[in-house]
Amino acid sequence: MAKKILVTGGLGFIGSHTVVELQSEGFEVVIIDNLYNSKIEVLDNITKISGVKPTYINLDLRDKNAVSAFFDGHKVDGVIHFAASKAVGESVQKPLEYYENNIAALIYVLSAMQKNKVSNFIFSSSCTVYGQADELPITENAPIKFAESPYGNTKQIGEEIITDTTKTSDLNAIALRYFNPTGAHPSAIIGELPIGVPQNLVPFITQTGAGIRAELSVFGDDYPTVDGTAVRDYIHVVDLAKAHIVALKRLIGGTNKTQFETFNIGTGKGNSVLEVIKAFEKVSGKSLNYKIVGRREGDITAAYADTTLANNELGWKAEQSIEDALRDAWKWQQTL
Ligand code: UD1
Repeated sequence: MAKKILVTGGLGFIGSHTVVELQSEGFEVVIIDNLYNSKIEVLDNITKISGVKPTYINLDLRDKNAVSAFFDGHKVDGVIHFAASKAVGESVQKPLEYYENNIAALIYVLSAMQKNKVSNFIFSSSCTVYGQADELPITENAPIKFAESPYGNTKQIGEEIITDTTKTSDLNAIALRYFNPTGAHPSAIIGELPIGVPQNLVPFITQTGAGIRAELSVFGDDYPTVDGTAVRDYIHVVDLAKAHIVALKRLIGGTNKTQFETFNIGTGKGNSVLEVIKAFEKVSGKSLNYKIVGRREGDITAAYADTTLANNELGWKAEQSIEDALRDAWKWQQTL
């Protein structure tokens, strides 16, 4: 019988791509999503790609009784927990909303899992937990730095909650610390749907390329990097989605080495903002209108992953380049 997996936030950017990969690997998927930062059309678009409509339940994970009732009524073999708020700036303005959405919901899901003896759990974490790491590339052993925002803090606290829970229960968990997810499904049927003005670089670039934004601001050219602009590790969302599948299979197969494992998920390669712009111009054939402005508050100089642990333990490696990611992001943008 196919294993049944609950994907919270399964209509979101990373969630939807992961649902498609789960289905192509023969898993049965149940999505919980409250449509707070996603659209119901994504459900049909997932179905167009995979040919299988996942079960969908509109449920708010802050509703403890509803979460508990869901687990009482559905026998699932594992949970991939994406549902969370993710805008750094907004989290500074609305800290309590972020703590409730990202922490209370996590607690309710873990409690209901424990009660129903569901033990396999994948958690969406972020490279933001490292802050500006002292050494590059960043390994999983790099120290966790003081969180600069409530959003970043929710990822750190989330990992701590899982650590403590595994100590006293049968929970088996893997946290994936994502670097910078970008790109879209190669079919251009699903992709990122930023609400309002995008805060992240790649959607801002593709919207500028499409003429929706007049000009891209490059935040700072005085960083100690190759060309003065900040460096990040941009990972194709399909590569990222696949990392969730191998992590889940590791838990289901019981090949995890400890009850809570953490992996960096990136390409291992850093690209500067100007390099990303050049790569976009190359794949789109468009010249991008941009100007250099001051640094953005809270930004770090450089972050890219050492992915040795994920390569060796999960047998996973990013396969797609920044050009691939930008090509797919651009293809997707042109459908919007
Ligand atoms: C941001 C968040 C991070 C979160 C991640 C994924 C901050 C400080 N960090 O990471 O916590 O996990 O998104 O959602 O917000 N840039 C420009 N012009 C723009 C937009 C971005 O030059 O219009 C630059 C930024 O200064 C940065 C790089 O592009 O150097 C990437 O920015 P972004 O896509 O926002 O990702 P991060 O800041 O790395």
